[in-house]
Amino acid sequence: MLKLGVNIDHVATLREARYRGRQFGEPDVVEAAKICEAAGAHGITAHLREDRRHIQDKDVYGLRKVVKTRLNLEMANVPEIVNIVLDVKPEIVCIVPEKRQEVTTEGGLDVAVNVRSITETRKRLNDDGIQVSLFIDPLLEQVDASARVGAQFVELHTGAFSESFGKLPEQEIEIEKLITAAKAANSSGLKVNAGHGLNYQNLKLLYKVPYLVELNIGHSIISRSVFVGIGQAVKEMLDLMKDYRC
Ligand code: PXP
Repeated sequence: MLKLGVNIDHVATLREARYRGRQFGEPDVVEAAKICEAAGAHGITAHLREDRRHIQDKDVYGLRKVVKTRLNLEMANVPEIVNIVLDVKPEIVCIVPEKRQEVTTEGGLDVAVNVRSITETRKRLNDDGIQVSLFIDPLLEQVDASARVGAQFVELHTGAFSESFGKLPEQEIEIEKLITAAKAANSSGLKVNAGHGLNYQNLKLLYKVPYLVELNIGHSIISRSVFVGIGQAVKEMLDLMKDYRC
């Protein structure tokens, strides 16, 4: 069964829009995580960015206390954040690239040119019992490098696929890249997650990609929850995900 990790960063985005720098404020990220889990989410994902634009340190510690399914922390491979993550002890970490000016994580991690530093971090995390996923563009050289690093998972960046949705031939090209990368990852012993820009409309097309274990979805679920509530938004996504056959 395809699993859903709900990325709750944008619950914090909404709070920070009004309460930046304060120790209180709504909506409550921890409460959101509880509702997502009660609605059937298989995991909760959050990204503690270096610039703290949405999720704050107190949020990751608060999430650690309540999340019963699986906490996935997205993080840049920088000492400050690695140390916090080692202290929080999520079940899994997804290492992502981070640029200050970007609106969201725009490209995948360049594992191929950073094999040594990513391997070191991967070992520190694994030694603490934390699984490691690498957020990569669907490129064979990045899949290859991820296997060399010894990661347990790759998360294939579906941003280009989402942008191409409804445009031919681009959408077919992007799907093919994801299929090729997923097959290569599977043959290298890597488990395959995917995420970024996935929504209630483009999801079904992604089902052409084999070996998917989990999708991490944030913005579209939080947007839908403005109208129907976060529990219902999660349930609707899970309902669509039932049709996936790997
Ligand atoms: N996966 C990763 C690694 C991400 O960085 C993000 C965005 O924070 C997501 C998934 C979720 O993307 P979206 O909010 O577009 O669903």
